[in-house]
Amino acid sequence: MRIAVIGCGYLGAVHAAAMASLGYDTVGVDVDEAKVERLRRGEPPFFEPGLPELLRAGVDAGSLRFTTDVAEVAGSDVVFVAVGTPQLAGSDAADLTFVDAAIESLLPHLGEGTVVAGKSTVPVGTAQRLADRIAPTGARLAWNPEFLREGFAVQDTLAPDRLVYGVAEGDGAAVAALDAVYATILARGTERLVMRFATAELVKVSANAFLATKISFINAMAEIAETVGADVTQLADAIGLDARIGRRFLNAGLGFGGGCLPKDIRAFQARAEELGHGHTLGFLREVDEINLRRRDRMAQLVDAELARVGGDRVGMLGLAFKPNSDDVRDSPALDVCRILEQRGRVVRAYDPEARETAGRSMPSLDIVGSVEDAVRGADVLALGTEWQEFRELDPVVVATQTDARVVVDGRNTLDAARWAAAGFKVVGLGRPEVE
Ligand code: UGA
Repeated sequence: MRIAVIGCGYLGAVHAAAMASLGYDTVGVDVDEAKVERLRRGEPPFFEPGLPELLRAGVDAGSLRFTTDVAEVAGSDVVFVAVGTPQLAGSDAADLTFVDAAIESLLPHLGEGTVVAGKSTVPVGTAQRLADRIAPTGARLAWNPEFLREGFAVQDTLAPDRLVYGVAEGDGAAVAALDAVYATILARGTERLVMRFATAELVKVSANAFLATKISFINAMAEIAETVGADVTQLADAIGLDARIGRRFLNAGLGFGGGCLPKDIRAFQARAEELGHGHTLGFLREVDEINLRRRDRMAQLVDAELARVGGDRVGMLGLAFKPNSDDVRDSPALDVCRILEQRGRVVRAYDPEARETAGRSMPSLDIVGSVEDAVRGADVLALGTEWQEFRELDPVVVATQTDARVVVDGRNTLDAARWAAAGFKVVGLGRPEVE
């Protein structure tokens, strides 16, 4: 079987490497020459655990190629479309420029029997429009949304919770083609659900909307907890024991960021408005607002501690939107740095992987190469991303590296009792202070 993947960003690069690892002759296509050049050498253009090994194995075995020439998709059995759908500038809606351009570029190279499988996250209704566009070529469309998490992308691609196929009514051939592609994964018992295009598109955006809502729900509880002196972590532990609620995705703190959840809930809301259902998804605006308020709250807490100790220097630990990623798109941690700088505070930051990406996104930020360098000279410490490295810090050692005696834990992740025993005041989000 021959596979092509259009778009070699997060989704596409991982998908192409995964396809090659399943034994298929795979070509990844991207318009970005520099990205293709790196991928050809087996180097991912971003940090993702397990991906370098998978890429190199495919490239070395000759089963994985990368090109900027879309004509090389000719003869593929399945062409996956994995280009980005970012937020449109000046609007909440998704920008479909890359999806449309990918489909247009494919048209001359499609033939009878080719299956084009969309993986990008798109507003409901897009798949049918694209299916109509490719119909004259004899190719067929399937919508096969992706649910991978950054940091676990390889694992989520090769061992997903479920496979979703959106297909045209009665299109058994598209289902058979995807079944063949995913045969190894299906043989392990992974559930596969076949549905209409619109349902498949909605499954993707509603899953992300649900996850975002779960996080904002617990962060709303954190706001209340702060006012009444309750502990949101204990609250999450207690409600999470109810299997109907579940403890996962109930970690209160700085909230969600990244290239998916924030823009997806906005695009979903924008699409609902177009469909005359603005009121139906109105709660997603609240979800977004609760989420963004947490960043201001963290900056406010840091500011208050700086005022208390009479300093203005912050040692920031973590810049990525979450651990095990160098992604700083819509990163809550980086936003907190911005707010603090706007208030005239001096921030020195460290992140195990996001140094370059954060530097590009916020050139004014002083980014250093170690925890020690970030905390030295600081008046207040702040934690913005819950990297394992920070969880494993020995507060007794940190206390010898800095004069700061307070840490604002934006991810409620440090062992507060241990830090307090080492002489630190620990300020969490939605939790009573520990001293
Ligand atoms: C998210 C979804 O989890 C994936 O299933 C989906 O495929 C992906 O978007 C996508 O649409 O491509 P991802 O953006 O990698 O994946 O990150 P998540 O693990 O969902 O985390 C999102 C944000 O929520 C992070 O900033 C994280 O710190 C935050 N978060 C997560 C919380 O604040 N609290 C939690 O309890 C969990």
